[in-house]
Amino acid sequence: MAGLSYHLTTFGCQMNEHDSERIDGLLESLGYSQAAAPSEADLILLNTCSIRESADRRLATQLGNAKRFKAARPGVVIGVGGCWAQSLKDEVFERYPFVDVAFGPGQVDRLGEFLLADSIGAQGYFEFGGFTADLPMRAQQRAQAWMQISVGCNQKCSYCIVPSTRGLEVSRPFSDLVAEAEHLVDRGAREITLLGQNVNSYGRDLRPERRSFSELLAAIDGVEGVDRLRYTSPHPQDMRADVVAAHVELESVCEHIHLPLQSGSSKILKAMRRTYDRDRYLSRVAMIREAIPDISLTTDIIVGFPGETEADFEQTLSLVEEAQFDAAYTFIYSSRRDTEAALITDGVVPAEQASERIGRLIELVQRGALKRAERFVGRSVEVLVEGPSRTDPERIRGRTRHNKAVNFVGIAEPGELVTVEIESATSTSLSGRVTLVSSALR
Ligand code: 5AD
Ligand code: SF4
Repeated sequence: MAGLSYHLTTFGCQMNEHDSERIDGLLESLGYSQAAAPSEADLILLNTCSIRESADRRLATQLGNAKRFKAARPGVVIGVGGCWAQSLKDEVFERYPFVDVAFGPGQVDRLGEFLLADSIGAQGYFEFGGFTADLPMRAQQRAQAWMQISVGCNQKCSYCIVPSTRGLEVSRPFSDLVAEAEHLVDRGAREITLLGQNVNSYGRDLRPERRSFSELLAAIDGVEGVDRLRYTSPHPQDMRADVVAAHVELESVCEHIHLPLQSGSSKILKAMRRTYDRDRYLSRVAMIREAIPDISLTTDIIVGFPGETEADFEQTLSLVEEAQFDAAYTFIYSSRRDTEAALITDGVVPAEQASERIGRLIELVQRGALKRAERFVGRSVEVLVEGPSRTDPERIRGRTRHNKAVNFVGIAEPGELVTVEIESATSTSLSGRVTLVSSALR
């Protein structure tokens, strides 16, 4: 990632300013530097606002410029986040086909993963409605932090550009990561998210001593002050019993697993070289649910892979129903240079059909997500406080261990862990009131 630069333009209110601060922090931790102008950046990001027409006009100008910069330098990546992107959802790509990634408030960590996986160029739409976790305080005092644990990938997924651009997986030294976690805690972090293309194959390349991902989880859990530990993304193939057991045995490891599916059709999974089929994926889900019945499960899905028929797509829909995801990030397949799938000429799915499929999928995902979210109503959950609510200044927002955004009534400071009683749910967020301030601000 080193050597890449980005330019971020922020429109709108204070909330967007906070989101942008968090995007800056993320990109910095991924090794991006700030470009002086969008014309010089490898990654052009617009954090948008839809409140006034004047913002719309400025945005239209910026989008037009970004399109020109990309035409002049084809490697440029364009991302659009915030409220305007949220209001258009997947239509962004129909109306502005040069946009690579669209994301709503709260999807900053997904943006990080998207960039790491080099899936940019694949048009990605991240399910919207969460709340970006930033603290209205000094940038170095974030309660939530990221740590990149490896680069590269040893898999050969046929749609994915990572193996050709990043090469084989290289894990960062174990002791460096533990030291970095200690450092992050010293700077105010209490939640750490481990990032990598394939986090759960971490450590197999380390010498003289091989390490495993579950050992890394245990070591970071052991760092005094790490209250919450997350990771993204694992590969279903390497989602073994030791990693699942870490969720049960280690206090900080959260009750949330992001397990990328990509397709529910065994035929398409084979063409994607995902190394598992539909049944194997579902048996992993069953193993996880048996060990951690209340786990939140999220996933990534690609629609419109070459050869995907209506029947294949319906297999994806039925798996989504069966697996009961709490959220899913959906992508329209796009051909990437130097990938095996780029050579497939048969069965190419027309853009309109892919767009129609992603629309149906998003609808099903949202219905399922609402049902899952409703299980929290009436429960008391631990929330890491992030700041004032974006929609209602009387309320506060934060995130649960299950990675659900919560808006709540009460008095609490950013960085505190509080107990919130959940009163209602939507497909993307929960709402409630504070019953207990369980842990002081660090
Ligand atoms: N087309 C569409 N989606 C892709 N992704 C990766 N490469 C592509 C591509 N060529 C998606 C996958 C992955 C996520 C980070 O991006 O779903 O899990
Ligand atoms: Fe790409 Fe597959 Fe590796 Fe993920 S696991 S980075 S999709 S090759």
